[in-house]
Amino acid sequence: MNVVRVFVVSIALISLSGACIQAFDFEPNYDESQIPLYELPDPLVTGAGQKVVDARQWREQRRPEILELFRTHVYGRRPASLEATSFELIRVTPDALGGKALRKEVRVYFTGEKDGPTMDLLIHLPPQPIGPVPLFLALNFGGNHSIHADATIPLSTSWMRDNQAKGYVDHRATEASRGNAARRWPIELIVSRGYGLATAYYGDIDPDFDDGFQNGVHAAFQAAGQQRKPDDWGSIATWAWGLSRAMDYLETDEQVDHRRVAVMGHSRLGKTALWAGAEDERFALVISNDSGCGGAALSRRRIGETVGRINEVFPHWFCGNFKQYNLQENKLPVDQHMLLALMAPRPVYVASAAEDRWADPQGEFLSAYHAGPIYHLLGKPALPESKMPEIDHPMMTTVGYHIRSGKHDVTEFDWRAYLAFADKHLGGQ
Ligand code: GCU
Repeated sequence: MNVVRVFVVSIALISLSGACIQAFDFEPNYDESQIPLYELPDPLVTGAGQKVVDARQWREQRRPEILELFRTHVYGRRPASLEATSFELIRVTPDALGGKALRKEVRVYFTGEKDGPTMDLLIHLPPQPIGPVPLFLALNFGGNHSIHADATIPLSTSWMRDNQAKGYVDHRATEASRGNAARRWPIELIVSRGYGLATAYYGDIDPDFDDGFQNGVHAAFQAAGQQRKPDDWGSIATWAWGLSRAMDYLETDEQVDHRRVAVMGHSRLGKTALWAGAEDERFALVISNDSGCGGAALSRRRIGETVGRINEVFPHWFCGNFKQYNLQENKLPVDQHMLLALMAPRPVYVASAAEDRWADPQGEFLSAYHAGPIYHLLGKPALPESKMPEIDHPMMTTVGYHIRSGKHDVTEFDWRAYLAFADKHLGGQ
């Protein structure tokens, strides 16, 4: 039975919530002995209290029910009618990166209109692929030109968060930002292992600031003067939707095996990758890198970043309803182990970093562990024990997990683990 009880009650947290003090006003808790009493909702009991006994009942009844709960209470609902997206192959460079990769630049027209919102996909494949290749799809934080120092990658012209030190000035990318995230994107390694890598700037889909949902694709799908509903999509849901549009393109590319696409993301984009994998089962494998609160980490533990804090600092990320759960995590009808369960039976990998306490590594691990009963129900192995593996020792069944030494980041260690996991489940080129 997937129920956890923690008997250590935090008097401080209880009295804080009783007094309705703003979530933002208190220091984050990092002390395991101070977690409030919590009980995880059981993914294998329906809303009507019925036990889920077989794969069919999971598939037809409980999975759709949980997906709806996440749409309604956490991420918001994507609009229904979106058949219009079209693509343009802008450029193919057969000998990119000194001949190590084949590069494609593809423009995605979200509404099918040339003057509507667009997303630029940058795709690297092994040179002369001998057949359709498996591929990692991951959004980036700083523009496609930030993932490699190569001067021929077009500089992004989208809105950027200002960061002089990294080369973003007046909300625009400058040449100084070229390659500033290259360390996180080992393209040469990935293509040498027989995989493709596709990326796009997340701000092409929706700029990451609280703009009242006036920009990006929100605006394109919201009729003028239309009031937002409490379950309308927040930015994470929009970014995840953008990943699905990238997948629409990948389905048309004969050099890519669209049945072997892994969706990956770091941090807020790790939350996004998980939600993309939940909403869109075309993603064959899902990877969350240091996704933390609202991603892989259990909300009810309130370690590091909390629901109240994330809603306060990033009010545009989740749907309006999620704000009801500030300091009321126990009232959520879901917790994040149920998000991971939505990936089943597909392989899912959760990665943490030892010094990333803000993202609650233990909560990320427990979430992956408590998705186990759904994998077992569907005949797949999951994490074998409720104890975290040692630092820098990845654990891989159909559910994978590692806690790496070091900080909140994406490192070569992380990528090597994802490649090994993908080799196991997607089988390389
Ligand atoms: C902040 C935020 C996290 C998020 C991270 C990131 O730290 O609190 O929830 O994951 O930014 O996306 O880098």
